[in-house]
Amino acid sequence: MKKLKFGVIGAGSRGVACFGEIIKKNPEAELVALCDPNPVRMEEAAKILGIPLKFYSNVTDMIKKEQLDAVIITSPDHYHEDNAVEALSCGVNVLIDKPLATTVKGCRNIIEAAEKAGKIIMIGFNLRHNAVLKRLKSIVSEGKLGDVFLLENREFYDGGRTYMSRWNRSYKECGGLWIHKGSHDFDVFQWLLDFPKPVKVSAFAGINVFNPEHIPFKVEPGTKVGPTCHQCAYGDICPDKYNIENIQDSQWKDEAVAVDGYSKDLCMYMSDKDNHDNGIALVEYENGTRASHMECFVTPISDRLYTLVGTLGQAEASLTNHVIKVRPRWSQEVITYEIPEETGGHGGADPKLVDYFIKVLKGELPNGSTAEHGMWSTAVGQAAEIARRENRVVEVKELFNK
Ligand SMILES: NC(=O)c1ccc[n+]([C@@H]2O[C@H](COP(=O)([O-])OP(=O)(O)OC[C@H]3O[C@@H](n4cnc5c(N)ncnc54)[C@H](O)[C@@H]3O)[C@@H](O)[C@H]2O)c1
Repeated sequence: MKKLKFGVIGAGSRGVACFGEIIKKNPEAELVALCDPNPVRMEEAAKILGIPLKFYSNVTDMIKKEQLDAVIITSPDHYHEDNAVEALSCGVNVLIDKPLATTVKGCRNIIEAAEKAGKIIMIGFNLRHNAVLKRLKSIVSEGKLGDVFLLENREFYDGGRTYMSRWNRSYKECGGLWIHKGSHDFDVFQWLLDFPKPVKVSAFAGINVFNPEHIPFKVEPGTKVGPTCHQCAYGDICPDKYNIENIQDSQWKDEAVAVDGYSKDLCMYMSDKDNHDNGIALVEYENGTRASHMECFVTPISDRLYTLVGTLGQAEASLTNHVIKVRPRWSQEVITYEIPEETGGHGGADPKLVDYFIKVLKGELPNGSTAEHGMWSTAVGQAAEIARRENRVVEVKELFNK
């Protein structure tokens, strides 16, 4: 059996630790090349993966020379549009990690490029493959909740690291955290509801904690904090120290940083940032359903919690505790679903996403995670970002007139 030849664009954490490792073990696919502007990071990636790989700094060169069947795009969010349009115009299939792009306009450019190329573009909404959310979706589809009219999700991320210490702390790199992080949940809402269109969005968000006023230790006069954890004089006492010394983080050692200045362990308190460390967004859909999404990067726990209310009952789900509780209306009954834990990133969702993409490439399954779905979740995130910056309710249709 001929294996499908894959290349990865953006050889960082997702490209290597997630997709690289998964494809390496997949009998139907092989990873042959990486494309990344940082050669040191690619060399470290190949060492981590332990497989021979070709290195490229140019997307077109990689696709043409390696005769790839598909690429996986895991570059920082604001490069997705350029990377995807270039890859599609070279005639290759694309799996693109969320978000599709950082603006509706960027998403539409990708959709147009895919139509022109006649190639598959699938968005990597891995949460749709998470066992708890899959069960929640079937509870909704089976009608156990009746017509769902209200959804709520709270997203807690322990300690803020990865969101406040590298590129995603900055709006221009990711279009804001409503897109970078919230796009997962805005998609889950639409997917659970069978894709009603979002109509109106409002949001409040800001930095309450990851600023110099909240440094969690006493700063001595004359001894500066940061700039990175591994350089910081307070590394031994900071409860938020990010330890860059494990194997995967060899991709962010000083030799790699010297190439592009990209550090992964910038001080969360001292680094400049214009994305929020907590916030709440509200969405109304065309069918009158309403949803709220809260995201917080300053908490002692990590979990994604969902509550759905319908005309016949209510469901509550926890992705970390692998449990769903359904409470039928007019009853004291609580039906508990304990969902077995699965192996692999994001509760087993990452390997399932790759298997699904391979089946789509082979024509065995339809593409259920389309670029259009990616566009709608970006639209809600972009509207939320405008809503919080301009302090107003945003009509999603505004974004389509730009
Ligand atoms: N689905 C999920 O659950 C999930 C989780 C984390 C991140 N992500 C997404 O995955 C993507 C990658 O995130 P990450 O955490 O791996 O980032 P990362 O910083 O670890 O890796 C990004 C890589 O892209 C490279 N790069 C920079 N500019 C580039 C360009 N112009 N072209 C190609 N490569 C370029 C960097 O050198 C780096 O190696 C992001 O879009 C992020 O939103 C998705």
